[in-house]
Amino acid sequence: MDNNYFESSREKWQRLADLWNKVSPPGRPSSDDIKNYKAEIDKALSGVRAPIIVLMGSTPELRDLLSQYCREKDSKLFCVDMTEDMYNAMTLLLKNNPQNETLVLSNWLEITKHIKPESVDLVVGDFIVGNVGGKIDNLYTEIVTILKKDGYHVTRTDVIDESTLRINDISPLFEKYAEEAKNGKLTIGQASNLFTQQLVFSSWFLNDKKVMSLSYYKDQLETLAKKWANSSDQIKKEMAEYNMDTWGKMTDKVWHNLMKADQEKLIKKYFEIIETRYSNDYNVIQESPIYLLKKK
Ligand SMILES: C[S@@+](CC[C@H](N)C(=O)[O-])C[C@H]1O[C@@H](n2cnc3c(N)ncnc32)[C@H](O)[C@@H]1O
Repeated sequence: MDNNYFESSREKWQRLADLWNKVSPPGRPSSDDIKNYKAEIDKALSGVRAPIIVLMGSTPELRDLLSQYCREKDSKLFCVDMTEDMYNAMTLLLKNNPQNETLVLSNWLEITKHIKPESVDLVVGDFIVGNVGGKIDNLYTEIVTILKKDGYHVTRTDVIDESTLRINDISPLFEKYAEEAKNGKLTIGQASNLFTQQLVFSSWFLNDKKVMSLSYYKDQLETLAKKWANSSDQIKKEMAEYNMDTWGKMTDKVWHNLMKADQEKLIKKYFEIIETRYSNDYNVIQESPIYLLKKK
């Protein structure tokens, strides 16, 4: 990740810090995800006394979960985040008081400048691989360097699956989620997040750069917002507004991602895949496996 990419990515996460309380799964881990994370983390830490844990980023749901281990197992938690604004904004979303938690302000590709080799029992990270400008090899090298022998990495990994929807016209998908909001199955916020995040994954097929970005749907999202802005259909009006007030403000963000088979091939260079879990409470499930990985 060169400095330009790093700086522009940090600027985008600064912008996202203000929006994050309007973001819901799959952009944030769901309650099923947290159950799956807990099951894998319990396995990774079984028999380990006073584990040292590194969280890549500041994910509030994971900090809440990991604070239990800090209380019960006397763990130490290091959150590695390049964006202080994001860490501070996420702190406001915590349900539990952070325990034994320290922020390490660093790019994930430079963790070894801050954390000693072979000093960490567990590295956790939610949807991280897309955020290193395609340098996933370097990311895994950093992670395995800080992990102790037999250390673990537990991570929800954003991948493209054979079954990922290929979407050209976004209107039918918008109608589908608006209908679910109308019949009370989803809130407008949930419907909007499921809709826009599906588009993020589908956008991968609209270019040959192996990136996901809402820029590929920007014009269509704007057209949708204009179409429903003065409508008497309150749900569609509010959902189209919600789209523009959240991920619609992030159409310049790019994630670099791989097909699942390629991702797993890369993982196996550095780790043994011990277990894979899929959650069941959002749309892009096949794109969001949670892996229990053991350092090779
Ligand atoms: C873990 S990621 C993905 C979002 C995740 N699903 C969540 O719910 O938190 C988001 C966090 O990682 C940080 N981040 C993104 N790319 C990074 C990088 N290359 N190095 C360090 N921190 C990074 C951002 O500042 C942000 O706080």
